[in-house]
Amino acid sequence: MTKHILLLHGPNLNLLGTRQPEVYGSTTLADINAAAEGHLAAFEVKLRTAQSNHEGALVDRLHDARDWADGVVFNPGAYTHTSIALRDAIVAIELPVIEVHLSNVHGREAFRHQSMLAGVCLGQIAGFGWHGYILAMDALLRRWDLLPA
Ligand code: DQA
Repeated sequence: MTKHILLLHGPNLNLLGTRQPEVYGSTTLADINAAAEGHLAAFEVKLRTAQSNHEGALVDRLHDARDWADGVVFNPGAYTHTSIALRDAIVAIELPVIEVHLSNVHGREAFRHQSMLAGVCLGQIAGFGWHGYILAMDALLRRWDLLPA
């Protein structure tokens, strides 16, 4: 049966490519979505992508995913460090969610070391730039036995 993934991007990630390229790289959001799409083409997996700068809109996207997705790859941007609402949404939807960060948040300012979300996610991937999204997809593919363990 076809699996479905939501690739969800949080605030300021619409600016990727021009936003602090020394931290986040020169890859745009469209590039990342295309790379994820390309990676999944070999599998029976369909991808939907979304980005929002608004916390409530991200909560709505997560709720909506409950009706159609089998897993979520999520870069919550700065809401990672603040949002109890997103944490509660992740718990509520009962889907495997993988938290992704382009940068290694643990090597940056102290306020980025804490994630409100990681504890309720399947896991967290940070510091590998755009490739982190591919690693997260592979984690879901392995979970579904679509990749060898
Ligand atoms: C980020 C890390 C966050 O701390 C930051 O607020 C972002 C991007 C990352 O992908 O490295 O917006 O999530």
